[in-house]
Amino acid sequence: MTFTPRFPAFLHGGDYNPDQWLDRPDILDKDVELMRKAHVNCVSIGIFSWARLEPAEGVYDFAWLDEVIDRLWKGGIHVILATPSGARPAWMAQKYPEVLRVNDRYQRYHFGGRHNHCLTSPVYRRKVREMDTRLAERYANHPAVILWHLSNEMSGECHCELCQEKWRDWLKDKYGTLDKLNDAWWTSFWAHRYTDWSQVEAPGNMAETSTNGMYIDWRRFNTWQCKTFMMAERDAVKAVNPELKVTANLMERFWDYDYFDLCEEMDVVSWDSYPLWHSGDDVARAAEFAMNHDMMRSFKDQPFLLMESTPSQVNWKPVNKLKRPGMHLLSSMQALAHGSQSVLYFQWRKGRGAAEQFHGAVVDHDGRDDTRVFRDVTQVGKALEALMPIYDREKQPAQACIIYDWSNWWAIDYAQTGQAKNMKYFDSVNMHYRSLWQLGVNVDFRDTRACTDLSRYKLVICPMLFMMNEAFTQKLRDYVAHGGTVLVTYFSGVVDEHGLAWLGGAPHNLIDVLGVRGTELDALFPEDEQALVMADGRCFKVSELCEIPEMHGAATLGTYGEDFYAGMACLTKNAFGQGQAYYLAAKVEQAGLDAIYAAIAGELSLKCALTDTLPHGVIATERGGAVFLQNYSGQRQQVTLADAYTDLITGKAVSGSFELEVNGVLVLTKAS
Ligand code: GLA
Ligand code: ZN
Repeated sequence: MTFTPRFPAFLHGGDYNPDQWLDRPDILDKDVELMRKAHVNCVSIGIFSWARLEPAEGVYDFAWLDEVIDRLWKGGIHVILATPSGARPAWMAQKYPEVLRVNDRYQRYHFGGRHNHCLTSPVYRRKVREMDTRLAERYANHPAVILWHLSNEMSGECHCELCQEKWRDWLKDKYGTLDKLNDAWWTSFWAHRYTDWSQVEAPGNMAETSTNGMYIDWRRFNTWQCKTFMMAERDAVKAVNPELKVTANLMERFWDYDYFDLCEEMDVVSWDSYPLWHSGDDVARAAEFAMNHDMMRSFKDQPFLLMESTPSQVNWKPVNKLKRPGMHLLSSMQALAHGSQSVLYFQWRKGRGAAEQFHGAVVDHDGRDDTRVFRDVTQVGKALEALMPIYDREKQPAQACIIYDWSNWWAIDYAQTGQAKNMKYFDSVNMHYRSLWQLGVNVDFRDTRACTDLSRYKLVICPMLFMMNEAFTQKLRDYVAHGGTVLVTYFSGVVDEHGLAWLGGAPHNLIDVLGVRGTELDALFPEDEQALVMADGRCFKVSELCEIPEMHGAATLGTYGEDFYAGMACLTKNAFGQGQAYYLAAKVEQAGLDAIYAAIAGELSLKCALTDTLPHGVIATERGGAVFLQNYSGQRQQVTLADAYTDLITGKAVSGSFELEVNGVLVLTKAS
């Protein structure tokens, strides 16, 4: 799939800040020469250029950008053009303080930093629209420009008076009457009933902190704020050239906004990936980032772009380790395996000053092209060219799906129970994902919105789906009744979409489907012992959370090993209609999940990238019929394949038994 008809190719390049070097035309010339040398074909520009584009209110200067774009274009480099709304110029903050954000202690920020604007401010929205319109009028039809990059890593919230007013309007729209709002938020608790809309304020440290439903709505409101802000930017640039698509760069584990919801209004999903490699277990890290990639692909059910990654190290983690040899190619290929149409970096060239002067870059302060990093980057550029045969080939449709839902995430984090403020939703889901990833099974992510269609999957997994709306429970019932297989875990189906507990037992509306009901939720200390004991005697460690079941007809596959619920069911299976439903009552260690999913994958004959048995940490991921064979184990591994392949990156034949080097990666296509 091409998002960039003007340039249908894997994009290679990244964030480029020529505005930091306008007094060095020699460097700007050199940049293009070095880009070509590194097999870079595309850069993102203008992300933080507002102060150069509009140095004083109403005074625009596009001459430098004209020159930059023309210079790049002459050199054969394409451009992703950003709108500069991620950071505003000092004159604007000084003249219109309302553009600056207010924190939840009602303090307004001063000028500085970035990503800190009020999302409501009519002045800011107008200024952004004017700037975006001018940029679009000037560049949207330039042949070099292939995509819009809206703002940058949108995040956060504002508590100013304008936002408070907007919040009340949003609530009025949602609930219609104050009674409905009071009911949804259970405000009879602690005398919190509102009697007038004007009493409703945003939650926060100096205000309401005990109303979970309100917090969940506040997050939904902020998603909507960000979404309408982004839509206004999209509409401004698309008014000039509707063909030129827009993206916004997302982040990993991002909690503030509901990404499924936000992505509805952008053409292309892109994201910024910064794994901390070589710190502990790279296999676990790879499983985490594989999941991030698959989520990005799932938001719009289409390929995505890797908008940022570092060519070497970042500078904002407590320990900023270099990528070890091989890891740059391996992690770049991982993105492609999961559906990326690009490998882009932050940043092309290191600046001389300010916060990111030591952040990894393709070109270092020494300006050289004979560095290890430059060679690694060039290698990726060449690999992307070699992989063009799979450019238009997407992943095969996934047969397994994991439900990951933002409202559920917020509800879990606000609910005061279990492991207080440490329920580890993302990490727990990742353990389920990892089992399938290790097997080479493609996985989609879906949420509980009405548009979710489960019928295309053989397996649907609901890990910690604490919040389930009525319609979704019905969808799951129908899915199983018609032959689907679900696995539902502890802490599922407990509250409705407002965060109000379902009455009559959990998982709501699914007790007969699962043949089991979750009763009490136990939370364990790290030193506590608990286990899942399988019928065949295998034993797996259980930690953190255990639900005590009450049986309603399911068969027991495994029991608890310890404590007062020893011998009670921990893993069950139930037949319902034409389908079946597994229930996992506790947080089981990775090896236990691996065993459970190996059995289910076998039973359902889920498609795997390779049927060969691979050593630990060697992962096979399918894309467009090609198999990306990746070694995250930190060791050389002996691999044996039954079939004969060609490695698309090197063109070499691969078959039989061979050694895969540390951080090695091959892209295998069947030899004809
Ligand atoms: C983010 C930002 C970039 C840069 C990088 C550094 O992803 O979008 O502007 O700050 O982090 O890693
Ligand atoms: Zn505000």
